[in-house]
Amino acid sequence: MKIGEVHDANRKIVGRTILHFDAVESTNETAKELLESDVEEGLVVWADRQAAGRGRHGRAWASPLGGLYASFILRPKEAHAWLLGLLIGMPVVKALRHFGVFAGLKYPNDAVYQDRKIAGILSEGVYRHDVYHVVVGIGLYTNVDLDKLPADVQPKATTLKREVNLFVANEEFLDYLLNQVDDLYSRYRNTRIEFLLKDYRGQCTTIGKRVSAMIGKDRVIGKAYDIATNGALVIADDQGKKHPFFEGTLEILK
Ligand code: BTN
Repeated sequence: MKIGEVHDANRKIVGRTILHFDAVESTNETAKELLESDVEEGLVVWADRQAAGRGRHGRAWASPLGGLYASFILRPKEAHAWLLGLLIGMPVVKALRHFGVFAGLKYPNDAVYQDRKIAGILSEGVYRHDVYHVVVGIGLYTNVDLDKLPADVQPKATTLKREVNLFVANEEFLDYLLNQVDDLYSRYRNTRIEFLLKDYRGQCTTIGKRVSAMIGKDRVIGKAYDIATNGALVIADDQGKKHPFFEGTLEILK
């Protein structure tokens, strides 16, 4: 059920209108349903909990009360969809740091603190009425007790509440986060994406680490070396051969 609607005319595109729901199946799905009508770019769907939150690779995203679950609608060039999904990790990490969790950006766009995931992003491209849209969904474990997450997730996750002895209301977190996303999207529209990718490369804490990745059926072990202009993570194996990696299982080795 919709429980509120907030307008902020100071934002350029993202977050000028926020639709607040108490519970939905998935904010990404609600945003996609809204695309059937003529909605503005930057519209945000925010829910207090999700009954069927979705993560990347078809995984579930546990969405108990206390977490922050929001999706927004963008209309980038289709060729930029993947790169934009990477870039959105930067404002998420910036917001976490602002509120006291010195998170890092694990390729492609997970926010991680001390090897535990605190936020994830699911970016989905969709055509509606011949127009290409990207629905970007962000899930953040803000005011969640770790024991409210599934048992298999708990050892690999953390929450703002666990790391910082300060209560931050989701409304306040979302407000700051949307300001950062709006700024990033405006830079995306006004600068060359390669410049933003350089920022991303500098912020991605996976670079320089030894990693293990599944690329197709092959396991590649080596050093995460670079971000290619198409947004792939380049892994240099022990023989020096370079392998581009986009999606799949990526493990950071000690
Ligand atoms: C990941 O696997 O890391 C991505 C998780 C993305 C979760 C968010 S919560 C808001 C939005 N709605 C969803 O169903 N998923 C995304």
